[in-house]
Amino acid sequence: MIELECVSKSFDGGHSHAVREVSFRVEEGETLVLLGASGCGKTTTLKLINRLIEPSSGTLRVDGRDITQQDLLTLRRSIGYVFQDIGLFPHLTIRENAGMVLRLAGWPPVRRSQRVDELLALVDLPPSEYARRFPWQLSGGQQQRVGIARALAADPGYLLMDEPFGALDAVTREQLQTELLRIKRELKKTIVFVTHDLFEAVRLGDRVAVMNGGRIEQIGRAQELIESPATEFVADLFGHATQQAQRLLAGGAA
Ligand SMILES: Nc1ncnc2c1ncn2[C@@H]1O[C@H](COP(=O)(O)OP(=O)(O)OP(=O)(O)O)[C@@H](O)[C@H]1O
Ligand SMILES: [Mg+2]
Repeated sequence: MIELECVSKSFDGGHSHAVREVSFRVEEGETLVLLGASGCGKTTTLKLINRLIEPSSGTLRVDGRDITQQDLLTLRRSIGYVFQDIGLFPHLTIRENAGMVLRLAGWPPVRRSQRVDELLALVDLPPSEYARRFPWQLSGGQQQRVGIARALAADPGYLLMDEPFGALDAVTREQLQTELLRIKRELKKTIVFVTHDLFEAVRLGDRVAVMNGGRIEQIGRAQELIESPATEFVADLFGHATQQAQRLLAGGAA
């Protein structure tokens, strides 16, 4: 379980507030999606959870324990992180990239290699074909898969995923969403997933938190957000998407 209690983060000595009084709880096995426009504080919220940055105020708990009271390395190992820009090392092979966390954790080479093969197969990159390649020899979608494999390497209970499918075409994006849903069913992870795409949020989230200007406007099942939006912002967000879909349908019929 991941819990945030009234968490705020400001930069520049308190002049800019990236995250304001954010509270939520992600239950075991649940996927919570943080949905919001660029700059609304999604990445900052993820980074606070695994202590890549420290909060200005508020409390964060993972597994019921204040994260500041936990050993940093142990905390990070319990949380897989898929970065917004993937961040593969260009001079390392796919096998080395995917096994990076295991190398740092001191796994012996043979075990590491077996585990990486398992992971690459899991994200549908047959190791015999892909393990020896370098990142530049992979498509964008394949690189995203390596990012996911790397995050899953040490079998963490938690996954933080920062717009992992952001740069992909619609078809590949949908494929990877389907795979993520399968991986989640098979591996039972607790996930915080960041996106600015409303449809992705509805598809992947057990619950969705709509963020705006560093705050959470509303958090709940997509159905609840659509049927009883708590704020004008949420109503507009879903209303706009519905109108857009209707316009597209009308256009398609013409
Ligand atoms: N290190 C920093 N110093 C100063 N301001 C920062 C820093 N990191 C983030 N911010 C600011 O905090 C706000 C939230 O940033 P954040 O990266 O969390 O947004 P985001 O929702 O992930 O956006 P995007 O969808 O573009 O990735 C932005 O206004 C950003 O400029
Ligand atoms: Mg971001």
